[in-house]
Amino acid sequence: MKIAVLPGDGVGKEVTQQAVKVLKAVVGKSAALELTEAPIGQAGVDAAGDPLPMKTLELCRKAEAILFGAAGVPGDEKIEFNKRPGASLLRLRKDLDLFANFRPVFMFKELIGASTLKPEIVDGLDLIILRELTGDVYFGEPRGIRTLPNGEREGFNTMRYSESEVERIARVAFETAMGRRRKVCSVEKANVLETSQVWRDVVVRVGKDYPEVELSHLFVDAASMMLMRAPKQFDVMVTGNIFGDILSDCAAMLTGSIGMLPSASLAGDKKGLYEPVHGSAPDIAGKGIANPFAAILSMAMMLRYSFDLPVLADKVEKAAARVLADGYRTADIFQPGTRKVGTEEMGDAVVAALARV
Ligand code: IPM
Ligand code: MG
Repeated sequence: MKIAVLPGDGVGKEVTQQAVKVLKAVVGKSAALELTEAPIGQAGVDAAGDPLPMKTLELCRKAEAILFGAAGVPGDEKIEFNKRPGASLLRLRKDLDLFANFRPVFMFKELIGASTLKPEIVDGLDLIILRELTGDVYFGEPRGIRTLPNGEREGFNTMRYSESEVERIARVAFETAMGRRRKVCSVEKANVLETSQVWRDVVVRVGKDYPEVELSHLFVDAASMMLMRAPKQFDVMVTGNIFGDILSDCAAMLTGSIGMLPSASLAGDKKGLYEPVHGSAPDIAGKGIANPFAAILSMAMMLRYSFDLPVLADKVEKAAARVLADGYRTADIFQPGTRKVGTEEMGDAVVAALARV
């Protein structure tokens, strides 16, 4: 199993360490692990003067899977795009064509009380946000900042999706739904944006190949409202890059904490990048208190998608649930009556629980 390990910045380092620890424990002697660590983000700038050093990119190209921590530092947005630590992740996604981003949102029953929503709204929640990851306003050209004749600056970006880009993510959505509750909700803003009109037309066309799947459409504003009002109606929610970015943070909170949300970014074959959704969290970095679950659960997704090891993936997920049932909580999901632990202790607890599931 050839895996590139990119801990990156902020809490990325701390949580990735836990994911690697659990990975080694669950794989044991059953397979040969080839883990190679490389710098990315600010760590890449420090090591090689580039947020995505060539060596790191080469390593990722050769790897079967990438375990990613986080990239980004405070003030990131003020740095020129190609030197910006956070932008390294965007370049990596684009270079490896990781267009299908799975962000599963499910409720551990132990954490129902940690959600800011009422228990009956989130109990049993299990949906996937499928976010297109290599197109949209994130990558659309032209983009930039220009000076207008009157001397003021104007920032501009371009939202665009071609039919083929929409078609491939739509297929992934329908295929995924076929293995689940057979419902796809496509989210866009077709009442305002031409990009979204093309998006909707293509999704409808692809949907004809999947008559068993119930297809619905929501405008993104209504979708965000429905996510808060009745999230259990959703099975697979497919959407573009920017709407998916926003909706997935929003959906993460249903589960109690963004520290719980894993993700997988796939290229259409087995290769994938596995990453906690939470990012570098500079406010708590280095304190040893970050929640490692999103990283550990991302690693479980890697075992399932890139290495066809569903039994081991299940084991990791069950161990995580077990640890929660035993009352262990990091600060972000802490409630009175539970046991507050740090990042490392939580990782150790998951390793110990592997033997009991
Ligand atoms: C995410 C993050 C990234 C994004 C940032 C770090 C560039 O917010 O993965 O959701 O916007 O895609
Ligand atoms: Mg985001």
